Amino acid sequence: MKKYEITEQQVTEYWNQNSSVWSEQVEKGWDYYREYLNNPAFFNLIGDVKDKIILDAGCGEGHNTRILAKKGAKVTGVDISPGMIQKAQEMEREGPLGIAYEIATFSDLKIFKNCSFDSIVSSMALMDAPHYDLALKEFYRVLKIKGSLLFSIAHPCFMTKGYSWIRDENGEESGIVASEYFREKDWIESWKFSKAPIPEDTIPFNVPCFPRTLSEYVNLLIKNGFMLARIEEPRPSAEVCEKFPWMKKWHEHAALFMHIHAVKE
Ligand SMILES: C[S@@+](CC[C@H](N)C(=O)[O-])C[C@H]1O[C@@H](n2cnc3c(N)ncnc32)[C@H](O)[C@@H]1O
Repeated sequence: MKKYEITEQQVTEYWNQNSSVWSEQVEKGWDYYREYLNNPAFFNLIGDVKDKIILDAGCGEGHNTRILAKKGAKVTGVDISPGMIQKAQEMEREGPLGIAYEIATFSDLKIFKNCSFDSIVSSMALMDAPHYDLALKEFYRVLKIKGSLLFSIAHPCFMTKGYSWIRDENGEESGIVASEYFREKDWIESWKFSKAPIPEDTIPFNVPCFPRTLSEYVNLLIKNGFMLARIEEPRPSAEVCEKFPWMKKWHEHAALFMHIHAVKE
């Protein structure tokens, strides 16, 4: 098992600092990859949630939590960052959907009893946390038998620390370099939503990243008693590529996201 240096306490501090700008920009729809690629595919994998009792693990300011609630699920969101939960609670007060929010790490879910949830959904959070193994143990415990764990992450094979694009003579992306795939050490990545109309002086997000290989993600699921039901590597549709030609590289050369559906045996 990899030993990381960045602690959960530091993860909390980084995401608290990110929370206001993150919340504002996500709610403006500036996370185009979420809107046009990640969410359509992820919610397709999640399927019908009507009347299901769902935990959103690493819910952030609750954007996807609210989508689940609007689709008829009874949702609880947990996040390690009080700043994120505060934003989520403000939006719940403004437009109540019956969502309960708790400040908690998904690697210690003692606030929930065994077998509490029909499904656990986690969007783009597990690669931002040091204790995937402990999270899986807790997910297994709080899921009902035959319950589903559905998560999205940055694709571990392509979104490595050293990734970069290869360009042809016209400057078009023609391939990807994915170096440092086996990296052991965690790091802080600074980034902005790349295609949003963000003012120059907006501070970037600083996000702790915890590298894992594909086999680490999958083998720990199996070790913790999950059965793999499906893996997806979504690609932007032809229509989306026509609307946003800069998305084409994720249709032609590499996958930006990976989605996993695993079931508690
Ligand atoms: C990229 S954001 C995604 C938020 C949300 N799921 C969404 O789709 O907008 C990652 C979130 O994971 C949360 N997070 C990181 N480590 C966590 C942990 N151990 N337990 C709970 N939340 C965690 C962060 O605070 C942050 O809100």
